[in-house]
Amino acid sequence: MGKDTIIWRCDLRVQYKKYKKEIDAAIKKVLKTGQYILAEELSAFEKDFAEYIGSKYSVGVGNATDGLILSLKALEIGQGDEVITTPFTAIPTVSAIIATGAKPVFVDIDEKTFLINIERVTDFITSKTKAIIPVHIFGNVVDVKRLRSLIPENISIIEDAAQSHGSKINGKHTGNMGDIGVFSFYPTKNLGGYGDGGTVVTNNQEIAREIKLLRMYGMTDKDHIVINGINSRLDELQSAVLSVKLKYLDEMNELRNKIADKYRTELDNQYFTFQYIPDNVFCNYHLFTARVNGDRNKLINYLERKKIQTNVYYMIPLHLQEANKFLGYNKGDFPTAEKLCSQIIALPMYPELTTQKLEKIITTINEFVRKYQK
Ligand SMILES: Cc1ncc(COP(=O)(O)O)c(C=O)c1O
Repeated sequence: MGKDTIIWRCDLRVQYKKYKKEIDAAIKKVLKTGQYILAEELSAFEKDFAEYIGSKYSVGVGNATDGLILSLKALEIGQGDEVITTPFTAIPTVSAIIATGAKPVFVDIDEKTFLINIERVTDFITSKTKAIIPVHIFGNVVDVKRLRSLIPENISIIEDAAQSHGSKINGKHTGNMGDIGVFSFYPTKNLGGYGDGGTVVTNNQEIAREIKLLRMYGMTDKDHIVINGINSRLDELQSAVLSVKLKYLDEMNELRNKIADKYRTELDNQYFTFQYIPDNVFCNYHLFTARVNGDRNKLINYLERKKIQTNVYYMIPLHLQEANKFLGYNKGDFPTAEKLCSQIIALPMYPELTTQKLEKIITTINEFVRKYQK
């Protein structure tokens, strides 16, 4: 490692190098076919991904934001309806709800797991509530079975599994516990393509059929349009790349777990409060996050000077984002999410992060804590 090498929060180049031969071959194969949309590669990937998750159907879409919008549409959710979710998530969870005309209703998070506090969800259910979108944030897992037992049967559960490929609870994959699960294949995700991509998984044949129609202009064939859909398809090149990477997903998630273990054992656990992962959960460590019990900005700046990149997910909870002002929420409405946003940090995490780099990160952070925060 050169003296001036930056340690990235997520370096995608190393993964490409590692699987280059297989990925290049898969891409070349597609290029030669002359079929780039809705052909063999997508069908093969959909089959393999559904099998991996344990669900009956996987329908590839252009990205997870579309996947969420189409899922809500397939459930006929829109104007006048309410959808419950968390204010501590990426914006697309919420913008998808807004795009359908429905109203997002927030429930605060649990301060240990950073997940929606499912024990409080029933307090927010009204006659307009049509669905709940629990988000498996950073790879930690919402107990969807418990959530199901707490809410009326007519309320659907759409799992936002954009960050949780391979995460499990009691051995069961995320995405396969609610009515629908939505995954993102954005490049930095645990299973990431080389462009945008996503998929919707379900065990419900009718929902799968509806999503297939909606992603392709509502066409049953080139001459017949049965509903008004959009264009949102996972393309052949992305499908081919994802098929290669899917074979290594579990291996990559294990490597992430090893890195997380080292952070947890070697970093000062007075200074950091790590995201709590329950014993029955296998976390894919999409991100490695912790609360900083000290001056977060000073730590970030110090690490930046030492050429170690970190990030903050999320700086502002979604009820306080300018775009969501119209929802009428105020500062103080979700104190746990607000507090977490002011403390959280994400440290470098990707499967190929070398031990040498990891040790440098840990040593540098421990040095900072000793020098400035004790
Ligand atoms: C929790 C969550 N939901 C949804 C999305 C949307 O995914 P995409 O970028 O594929 O639309 C993301 C991506 O950042 C996400 O992290």
